[in-house]
Amino acid sequence: MKTITDVLERPASRRSFLKKSLVAGAVATAGASILGKGLPLLAQESGSASITKGDVAILRFLAAAELIESDLWTQYAELGGIGKLPPIEVNPNEKLNPYQVALSNLDPDGPQYIASNTLDEVSHATFLNAYLQSVGADPVDLSAFAVLSGSTATGSSGKPRLTNLMDLNVDTSWYVRYRSTASPDAGATFPQAITLNGVTAIPRTDADFEGQSNPNFPGNDHIQAIANVAGFHFGQIEQGGTSLYAALSQKVTSPEVLQITLGIGGDEIAHFLEWVDFSGNGVQPPVAPFSDPISGLSFPNFFHPLNKQIQPSLIFPVPFQFNPNLPNVAMIRPITDEFAGAMAAVKAFTASGLFIGQSPEFFETLNKLATAADAAKRG
Ligand SMILES: [Fe+2]
Ligand SMILES: [Fe+2]
Repeated sequence: MKTITDVLERPASRRSFLKKSLVAGAVATAGASILGKGLPLLAQESGSASITKGDVAILRFLAAAELIESDLWTQYAELGGIGKLPPIEVNPNEKLNPYQVALSNLDPDGPQYIASNTLDEVSHATFLNAYLQSVGADPVDLSAFAVLSGSTATGSSGKPRLTNLMDLNVDTSWYVRYRSTASPDAGATFPQAITLNGVTAIPRTDADFEGQSNPNFPGNDHIQAIANVAGFHFGQIEQGGTSLYAALSQKVTSPEVLQITLGIGGDEIAHFLEWVDFSGNGVQPPVAPFSDPISGLSFPNFFHPLNKQIQPSLIFPVPFQFNPNLPNVAMIRPITDEFAGAMAAVKAFTASGLFIGQSPEFFETLNKLATAADAAKRG
């Protein structure tokens, strides 16, 4: 049986797909060519290999979002991950840099999780583009916009980037939202768990690896603060992916495309949960409370005083009011186009500073993809 890895290693060819369709007529399907045997092939049943324009628009925006995720996660993996990508090879003798150590203070497996999350995002982007090609649609290529300067710290590849991680306004309201009973889709807004404006989430130069010691904690407060920012940013990105896939899945027409969006969306949820726990470890003992002597950024202990709105151990979505006429329910949110759709995602990315330095053409490209995805209708 073919594995997804086998499939991804084989370049998808639109031409070979079209040729196959002609030979086998109605029996050949896009799904069959790309997904291999063993999965239900619904296009086969309908006798059509085509998918709706709306489904293509949804998949194209998701491919763009995944390319953006891949770019930012690759920057994290180069400096804070463990192992070469791909495949991930963990070398137990690898000497950790201070950023990796600081990330390990939040979870001993943190650097491994960063590498794994990166591998997943690259697989999402590669798969979605290959699937688009397999159904005769155009893949998404944002490589022309990879023009931003990244970190020059040791470990960074130094290649030009699509996204900025060194001057972020990390939105930490998700941390409060998932501990609240109010509904973001009903217009509820949530305060920041911690204010992180104009901050870097990665070491910018080797100087960021240095810092003063905290007598209460065997580490380095400057790089620890950067790792803590990263933890909250990981959560912001992955809760966004969680909501985006849930919102767009509601408008998918093809059952096979729905398998893909629900399946990848589930992986985003898996990522999100780890980063909820991870970010919370930066705001409790033994890591917190502490202050970065260089940036002045402070991370208090969220357990003291105890406040349910930010209690680190409440890592699962707290039941909330989905519908005022029904009991509260534990589920992901937001889940509507307005607050979780493609344009909402672009706005959130932009507000966080992720695209600082990008060209008007970049925003035009992204807005076009987002508008088309939000306009998609089921059926
Ligand atoms: Fe992803
Ligand atoms: Fe993700």
